[in-house]
Amino acid sequence: MRIGILGSGLMGGKLGTLFARAGHQVVFSYSRDAVKLERLAHDAGHGARAGTPADATRDADAVLLAVHWSRVDAVLEEAGHISGAVIVTCSLPMDASDTTLVVAHTSSGAEELAKKAPESRVVSAFGTVPSEVLFSVFKARGNTKPPSLVYCGDDTRAKQLAARLIRDVGFDPLDAGPLRIARYMEPFTLLMAQLAYEGSRGAAVDYRLEWRKEKTRL
Ligand SMILES: NC(=O)c1ccc[n+]([C@@H]2O[C@H](COP(=O)([O-])OP(=O)(O)OC[C@H]3O[C@@H](n4cnc5c(N)ncnc54)[C@H](OP(=O)(O)O)[C@@H]3O)[C@@H](O)[C@H]2O)c1
Repeated sequence: MRIGILGSGLMGGKLGTLFARAGHQVVFSYSRDAVKLERLAHDAGHGARAGTPADATRDADAVLLAVHWSRVDAVLEEAGHISGAVIVTCSLPMDASDTTLVVAHTSSGAEELAKKAPESRVVSAFGTVPSEVLFSVFKARGNTKPPSLVYCGDDTRAKQLAARLIRDVGFDPLDAGPLRIARYMEPFTLLMAQLAYEGSRGAAVDYRLEWRKEKTRL
């Protein structure tokens, strides 16, 4: 697939690299440093290239949105022709200090994004994973039982596409339901970040959710 990366920082840079290594055609975009974009594309290999947000979204099968919430309007404007696209978003609706969700409870960043890009098909995915673990999960794929990764969205085909990307990166896609479920996924992500970055055990955090027909066990 052709995958456009909007925001080539910790999440966009790593996920774009892994998508390229999994065989997709990747365009990295949206950094204040053009040299960094070229370097990312070079290091990712497999024909990945650097471009503008408009290059990244043109004819893309999917677009990964990985920018700070404050940059969403700007990057969508630069991308221009995003209507109809599948947007996979890991962007959380955080305030400038990255401490508080500015959209929560009765809506989510993913749902607000869907309103901003009304003809696109939004899937919320990857946000629940700290970027630090992405390369090791990719490396371990095939050798261990893949960790689950929740995603949600309203469009079936867009979700199938997102599920394929989740699998390609080394996770087991777990469909959490319609896009409104992002209201629960986004706060859950903050809990994971709290445990991973601020807890006494540092990044050595693991969680496991087991589902049984009769009962759900945490
Ligand atoms: N990091 C994580 O582990 C993680 C986990 C889950 C969800 N998320 C969410 O994913 C999204 C991306 O996070 P991230 O950690 O990948 O962020 P990041 O490393 O800061 O990357 C953001 C990208 O946007 C680019 N950008 C372009 N113009 C910008 C401008 N004027 N101001 C600020 N940035 C600009 C940055 O450019 P430069 O290259 O010039 O910096 C960078 O490439 C956020 O919404 C975050 O909440 C992150």
